[in-house]
Amino acid sequence: MFDRQKKGDRAVLVLPHTRGEGDTARRAAEFTELVKSAGAEVLGVVSARVEDPNPRYYIGTGKADEVAEAARALEADLVLVDHVLTPVQERNLEKHLGIRVVDRAGLILDIFAQRARSHEGKLEVELAQLKHLATRLVRGWTHLDAQRGGAIGNRGPGETQLETDRRLLGERVKMLTKRLEKVQTQRGQQRRARLRNTVPRVALVGYTNAGKSTLFNALTTGDVYAADQLFATLDPTVRKLEDLSCGPAVLADTVGFIRELPHDLVAAFRATLAEARDADLLLHVSDAADEERERLHHIVDNVLEEIDAGDVPQLHVMNKIDLASAEPRIERDGNGKPVRVWLSAATGAGLGLLRQALGELLGGERVQSALQLPLSAGRLHARLKAAGAIRNETVDEHGWQLHIDAPRSVIAPISGGDAAETRLLRQLLAVAE
Ligand code: GTP
Repeated sequence: MFDRQKKGDRAVLVLPHTRGEGDTARRAAEFTELVKSAGAEVLGVVSARVEDPNPRYYIGTGKADEVAEAARALEADLVLVDHVLTPVQERNLEKHLGIRVVDRAGLILDIFAQRARSHEGKLEVELAQLKHLATRLVRGWTHLDAQRGGAIGNRGPGETQLETDRRLLGERVKMLTKRLEKVQTQRGQQRRARLRNTVPRVALVGYTNAGKSTLFNALTTGDVYAADQLFATLDPTVRKLEDLSCGPAVLADTVGFIRELPHDLVAAFRATLAEARDADLLLHVSDAADEERERLHHIVDNVLEEIDAGDVPQLHVMNKIDLASAEPRIERDGNGKPVRVWLSAATGAGLGLLRQALGELLGGERVQSALQLPLSAGRLHARLKAAGAIRNETVDEHGWQLHIDAPRSVIAPISGGDAAETRLLRQLLAVAE
């Protein structure tokens, strides 16, 4: 059912902006990056001031003629508009230009379709694409019969699907929704199982291209696709994070956040973004070499708010210090708590500091206390020892004299062997409170 076409897209970009809107150059550069990420060739760019959107085309009629002219002269086969268009506007514009038009939402969906790796992510993408298409199917696409071809906007459920009736589309949406629910239930169960194990969960978030996947790979073993392309990662990939003073944690890589991620897409990818919402700590990665990093940081915070992850504690990571000529270091707040780590995921400088900060933050409060165990509490002694909770010990005929020093998160999950041991353990945790 997937009708992928190899032919590359030759695109003319339309960049609408309003008067007084700052930083159009950055927006233009970013949209160009997005388009290249989708695999299209950028032939030309037309900027369009839109103070009062034309309900028919969104851009003005004169501007539409200018775009048509540029597309003809450059022999483009696609026009990409950096704005979310209504289905009617998209269709009117296609008719007027005589060429395929894809809006920002369609473009991002296309990139998602190319990047999705997990089963869940693929289902989410296909579902979002079908819903997107369904709104554009009302009157058919016959006006473009002559111009079909190219890849962008045609990936995923392809043109052939468009020609079949809407009932089939509806059935496929129903089937995908059902499958997705099943996968999500399973994922929820896995997440709950992790919760029961009390393993802390950390999720990487950050503006697209900040270096999340690179950091993910540097901190864990195995390889996740990292590329100098927007949205190199779509599906959260979860791996074990070891060598932390607090004991093991799990680390999830998430999709790159981006300005104006269309709203219905945020909704469509809620499950994928759930890793961020359910995390104990977010590693918010920024590109230290990017002058815009503070603004991008706010954009990411806004998206986090939208997916109800605004309250999850964050540790900021200033990545790419090799490009910013900064030294690796940990910044702390007034209480000595780590708030920001400067590092380079690519060179590895500062990764040790990040592990240290993670250990401190996830370990939380430390239990530091003397503990006397009778010789009969051998099982508890063995468990404390295995968890690395004993700093030093002496033993005589009365039992062990222990000096316990470990994060509470390491000690709390330990269970006592019998009632007496359980009582001792409770006392130990109570002493530290
Ligand atoms: P998305 O998946 O699009 O959100 O991107 P990401 O945040 O996962 O970024 P990724 O890890 O794919 O890195 C983006 C680019 O930055 C790649 O070309 C990396 O090689 C590069 N990069 C990442 N970390 C560093 C770093 O510390 N220094 C330098 N110089 N480049 C880096």
